[in-house]
Amino acid sequence: MDVTFRIRRFNPEIPGKNKPYWENFTLNEVDETDRVLELLHRIKWEQDGTLTLRRACAHGVCGSDAMRINGVNKLACKVLVKDVNADRPIQVEPILGLPVLKDLVVDMEPFFEHYRAVMPYFVNSDPVPADGRERLQTQEDREKFDDTTKCILCAACTTSCPSYWANGKYVGPAAIVQAHRFIFDSRDQAAGERLDVLAEPNGVWRCRTIYNCTPACPREIQVTRAIGEVKLAIRNGSTEGIITEPATHD
Ligand code: SF4
Ligand code: F3S
Ligand code: FES
Repeated sequence: MDVTFRIRRFNPEIPGKNKPYWENFTLNEVDETDRVLELLHRIKWEQDGTLTLRRACAHGVCGSDAMRINGVNKLACKVLVKDVNADRPIQVEPILGLPVLKDLVVDMEPFFEHYRAVMPYFVNSDPVPADGRERLQTQEDREKFDDTTKCILCAACTTSCPSYWANGKYVGPAAIVQAHRFIFDSRDQAAGERLDVLAEPNGVWRCRTIYNCTPACPREIQVTRAIGEVKLAIRNGSTEGIITEPATHD
C-alpha cells in the first residue's frame, strides 16, 4: 500500500525553512505492520536525508522518540500503520510545549530541569545494613510505588498537558511521577523535601485533573492517580494512610 506522511518541518539554519511548515512524503510498498519510526527512517534514507528526529532503542524502552502522531502523543516506535488512519496523510509533528530545535527534535532541557527539581534519586543517610544485604521492605510497601517505577522520561505526558502548555514553569506530570516513585518508597528519607517542592505554586496544584497525561503514557502509568496521591500527601502532611491499589489497565 501507499502511505503519505505530512510532517512538520523546521530548520533554523536554512533561509526559507526557518519558519515551521508542512511537507508531504509518499512511500510505497508499506505494510500495515510497519512502524511509524521505520517509515520515518525510510523517508530520511530514501527521500530527504535532512529530516531530523530523535530515536535510539526502537523498542519502546529509551523514550527518545515521543512525537505527535495524528494529534496524539506517541512513541513512533510503538505505533503501527494499522493503528492510525492511513487513508489520509499521517500527520507527524514535534511534541508541544518545548522549543523545537529542528524538525521533530525538541530541546528537552526545560523538561529535565523540572525532573531534577524533585530530587529523583534515593536518599537514605543510615548506614547500610551490617549484613551487607539490601534495605528490605514489604511487598505492600513496594506496591505503593510500583507503577511509577516504569517511567522512561519520554515527556509524552508533560507535553500533552494543557496546564503545562499554558505555563512551562509547572513541573509537569512526568516530574511528579518521578517524585512519587521516591516519596512513597518506605526506604527513602527525603519525602518531606520533595513534597515541599511540589507544594510550591508551580508544583502539583497547577494540575487541574485534565487527564490528557494518563492516556498519553506509553508505559500505561496511572499518571493522574499518582498526582492525586501526591496532592493528598501534601494535604495530609504525610504519606501514611494512602492506599495504593495495584494499577489496572483497560
Ligand atoms: Fe513518559 Fe509515562 Fe514517564 Fe510521562 S509518566 S514521562 S508519559 S513514561
Ligand atoms: Fe495535566 Fe494530567 Fe493534570 S493532563 S492537568 S497533569 S491530570
Ligand atoms: Fe526508544 Fe522509541 S526509540 S522508545
